[in-house]
Amino acid sequence: MKKYINENFKHFLHGGDYNPEQWIDTKEIWDEDMRLMKLADCNEMSVGIFSWSKLEPKENEYDFGWLDEILDKIYANGGRVFLATPSGARPRWMTDKYPEVLRTDAAGKKRPFGGRHNHCFTSPYYREKVFKINSLLAERYGKHPAVIGWHVSNEYGGECYCPLCKQAFREFLKKKYGTIDKLNYQWWTTFWSHTFDSFDQIDPPLDGGDRYTSLVLDWKRFVSEQTADFLKNEVAGIRTHSDLPVTTNFMKNYIGVNYNVLAKEIDFISWDSYPTWHTAADSPRSNADVAAETALCHDAYRALKQRPFFLMESTPSHTNWQECGKLKRPGMHKLASLQAVAHGSDSVQYFQWRKSRGCDEQWHGAVVDHVGHENTRVFKDVQQVGQALKKIEEVLGTMPKVKVGLIMDVENDWALRNIQGLQNKDKKYYATCFSFYCELWKRGIDVDVFDAHRDISGYSLVIAPMLYMVREETEKRLVEYVENGGTLIAGYTLGSVNENDLCYLGGFPCGKLKDVFGVWAEEIDTLYPSESNEIEYGGKSYRVVDYCERLHVAEGAKTLAVYKKDFYAGEPAVVENRYGLGKAYYLGTRDDGQFKRNLLTTVLKECGIEGNLSELPYGVTAHSRYDGNIRYLFVENYNDAEVTVNIGKEKLNLETDKPESGRISIPAYGIRIFKEIQ
Ligand code: GLA
Ligand code: ZN
Repeated sequence: MKKYINENFKHFLHGGDYNPEQWIDTKEIWDEDMRLMKLADCNEMSVGIFSWSKLEPKENEYDFGWLDEILDKIYANGGRVFLATPSGARPRWMTDKYPEVLRTDAAGKKRPFGGRHNHCFTSPYYREKVFKINSLLAERYGKHPAVIGWHVSNEYGGECYCPLCKQAFREFLKKKYGTIDKLNYQWWTTFWSHTFDSFDQIDPPLDGGDRYTSLVLDWKRFVSEQTADFLKNEVAGIRTHSDLPVTTNFMKNYIGVNYNVLAKEIDFISWDSYPTWHTAADSPRSNADVAAETALCHDAYRALKQRPFFLMESTPSHTNWQECGKLKRPGMHKLASLQAVAHGSDSVQYFQWRKSRGCDEQWHGAVVDHVGHENTRVFKDVQQVGQALKKIEEVLGTMPKVKVGLIMDVENDWALRNIQGLQNKDKKYYATCFSFYCELWKRGIDVDVFDAHRDISGYSLVIAPMLYMVREETEKRLVEYVENGGTLIAGYTLGSVNENDLCYLGGFPCGKLKDVFGVWAEEIDTLYPSESNEIEYGGKSYRVVDYCERLHVAEGAKTLAVYKKDFYAGEPAVVENRYGLGKAYYLGTRDDGQFKRNLLTTVLKECGIEGNLSELPYGVTAHSRYDGNIRYLFVENYNDAEVTVNIGKEKLNLETDKPESGRISIPAYGIRIFKEIQ
């Protein structure tokens, strides 16, 4: 069954952020935009983001005339609109009259007017104003034929430490713990005489103040809840007059808020993707690495709601805020755009349609450059994507069939970053998760990436690297998963603490996980970044780095690899254990690639998991989306040279309408999309 984002508009969206309000005095530009939109095969514009000062130039004096005009124009030209709510930036009059809307930083200093996203998520006045403008927009445009959905605000993030937020934090804690004694116990406040007598004594983790993990964890949870509550209020404003699908644009691997909490308030996920393609020759990251990093995000955002998502923003050429504003090499624009589609995106959208003439983003890539016409390389690249999306329209609404789950948990990340211990400079949680993901990506295996709260019963293989924080219900879920036949890979630091960073007593990993893995981890040797050890596995030696856990192995469990150096030479480093109907692998140490590669080859084979294509050359991957037994196969080449790939039996090339089989060649930065009945 296809899962469409908008039942009334069953097309890939191709378009992006459009700011007609910047050109209100030169309406000939609007007409030119309409001509160019059609020429670029764009069918959608995200309108209204950051336009509050044009919508409400004075308090309670609204001007919707310009928006009426541009929405009518877009519709008359065959386009559709994701209408944005303007809360990402506010007019000056508002901050002058109601300074409470502005943000206060962690040093307790109120930020002046300026920038964007500079607002308090708690301020009752701001919430009221946002609700009002959203409901007015919904009332006026909820039934406008151009409008097919809502783009709420822009890239929510950041924290506010104002008195209103502080009070709300205390209430959040009161609701969560009930009594101060309970909080004192869970936060272990007897340590250093931190015991609180009442919730009113608790401050957010201010600069120079207390920043212990349990406090920081609850603060981050509060920030997430408060941001989600702000979002909920925005959506409620929209819902007074419109039931069109609602989204808000997320950012790459942003962990400032827990997106799992925000996701509950919206209908579908969208995100802004700005990969740093074409890194410097001396960079350790290749285009293939960048592609895999981006793929991980796509997979995480698809898995967040288990449905197709939108690529809400991407640059048609370069950014202006990265270290280097590198242009995309020929082919890369289409490849990067369709990579998103390969992983489940039902749109390719850009920041920005037309370059703003002045201010911060005048030098950011756009579909329409300052020259103002269509005779540019970038415009042609965009046209090509528009044409390709039309050719592959039947892919819309389809999903991959995924057998592998990777647990990458944001709260676990918060906890690891905040603890004193292990390698304090960088615990490399993300890097560790990515190292597993990358191995799967290279094999063309589809993966779901999600947090530790997810139902994992449907996967053949689950990988949970460095899952230091394990809630009781997570422990139960992992145990049941293996008991019922699943294969689980985890390792060092697993199950060390509960959700408040309180250590589990009685040996790690916590509770029954010791039985699942057949392991008790006694202590961790943290290596200096310049050091390494070695392990022996299958008669070969492999380099390991950063962490070496000393393990005790239960009877019946099998030691797969042992340490070769140091005082624990000969002791177990990697252990395999059968538990119930399933199998668990415990990795006591971090390897630097080769060991993981070999172990995964064995485990994937045992689990019957194969890539979308076998024998993929370096820098080439393959991903699928399915409509029942129809498979759409995307083969992507991130090398700057042509490659040959064996696609096996005959498949229909969706762009050329011609069948292909066996060995085919794909040019530098090329992508091929095939259809096949299975
Ligand atoms: C973000 C924002 C956009 C724009 C782009 C520039 O994603 O949402 O408004 O600033 O970055 O890359
Ligand atoms: Zn605040």
